[in-house]
Amino acid sequence: MLLAYDSLTGNVRRLARELATAVGTEAVDVRTQTPERAYLLLTYTFGSGQVPGSTRTFLDQHGHLLRGVVSSGSYHWGQNFAQAANVIAQTHGVPVVAKVNKGGTAADRVRILTWLREQNRYGTLD
Ligand SMILES: Cc1cc2nc3c(=O)[nH]c(=O)nc-3n(C[C@H](O)[C@H](O)[C@H](O)COP(=O)(O)O)c2cc1C
Repeated sequence: MLLAYDSLTGNVRRLARELATAVGTEAVDVRTQTPERAYLLLTYTFGSGQVPGSTRTFLDQHGHLLRGVVSSGSYHWGQNFAQAANVIAQTHGVPVVAKVNKGGTAADRVRILTWLREQNRYGTLD
């Protein structure tokens, strides 16, 4: 399973690269790269609880390979915290793997890595 990430100010990019190294896979940038196989999407929340336009464009083209979603956000946004994950999960019928504040915590990393390793163990999702 690949990781595909969208990041404006670097929080998600750093998280995605760290997770990719930990699990031994690639992290592809949705703005410049194309996923060749199934992926976990890591993005952020923009506007007021919205999915970034660059993530939407990517999903329009590659949504069939999406297997799960993580959104970063900020607790500052209250009810709209990391809402992009819910929106994408609902639209594409995939699980919300995590919603993280900014770059995420060690516990968030464990949660995401556990999910990724489960997918690999069962071998159903690449
Ligand atoms: C203009 C603007 C709007 C934002 N809107 C939301 C929001 O609605 N909900 C939320 O949880 N975070 C919101 N955020 C916070 C970002 O999602 C958060 O900082 C995230 O970690 C950014 O990821 P990045 O560093 O990878 O770009 C917003 C940030 C900016 C600058």
